[in-house]
Amino acid sequence: MRLLAPGIAEVTTRHDLDDALVELRTRRGVAAVVARSGPVGEPDVPTPEHWRAAPALPEHDAHLRAVTAGLGTPTCWATLQDGRLVQDVLPIRGQEDQQTGHGSRDELTFHVEDSFSDDRCDVLALLCLRNPDRVPTTVATVGSLDPAGLDVAALAGPHFHIRPDPEHLRADPGLTARTRPVLEDGPRLRTDPAFTEADPGRPAAALAELHDQLARALTPIALTPGDVLLIDNRRAVHGRAPFTPRYRGADRWLRKLTTTYAPASGPVVRTP
Ligand SMILES: [Fe+2]
Repeated sequence: MRLLAPGIAEVTTRHDLDDALVELRTRRGVAAVVARSGPVGEPDVPTPEHWRAAPALPEHDAHLRAVTAGLGTPTCWATLQDGRLVQDVLPIRGQEDQQTGHGSRDELTFHVEDSFSDDRCDVLALLCLRNPDRVPTTVATVGSLDPAGLDVAALAGPHFHIRPDPEHLRADPGLTARTRPVLEDGPRLRTDPAFTEADPGRPAAALAELHDQLARALTPIALTPGDVLLIDNRRAVHGRAPFTPRYRGADRWLRKLTTTYAPASGPVVRTP
């Protein structure tokens, strides 16, 4: 296991992946793992121009399910991609500047996945299907934070208004912001700078300090086909560097699966 940055590991063998999965699951040690050398590679179908046109990829989807099998129950949202359990991250024409998995030309600002929701996932898994320009996914973990430079008391107070992203709002325009802490015991992160506003004064200053520290700690990870990036969604944030979409079937394409540690007897479809 090789550490790329505080809390971020790269593994190339099944043995090291198993060790990393234990640390993820127990929330001790690494908070993000990139697993290289997987058994699947680039699919022989082009990148679709919309998630609605994305085909089933049985081998790839099975690999994603297998890697995450020990990390809780698969979960998804009724308001995202028609409630599909395995979802597609790919650029969509007309959404280039969106802060979602379908943007491209703008940087996708680092964030906790679905941070507005109390039911946000515990683990986010991204399987790379195609990434010809080696566009970096970015990650920073709580292990990179300097608590002495943070106003932890302010960050742990209910001073922060976190809005749902446009993908959720497209399906349910009635969704509203939740007012929550952005740093909880553990420590646990819960922020999305593009969609989070703080109360004026001390909370706003504290939020800016937290975001500055996370921005400085962002580590670029260029995924290649077959790589799986596993992210503890309570102890890490993730984002993406900007890129120019091609829309000719050769764009960056990831498959996403999220899981929850909440008790469940089968895959969970949630409404925000
Ligand atoms: Fe995300």
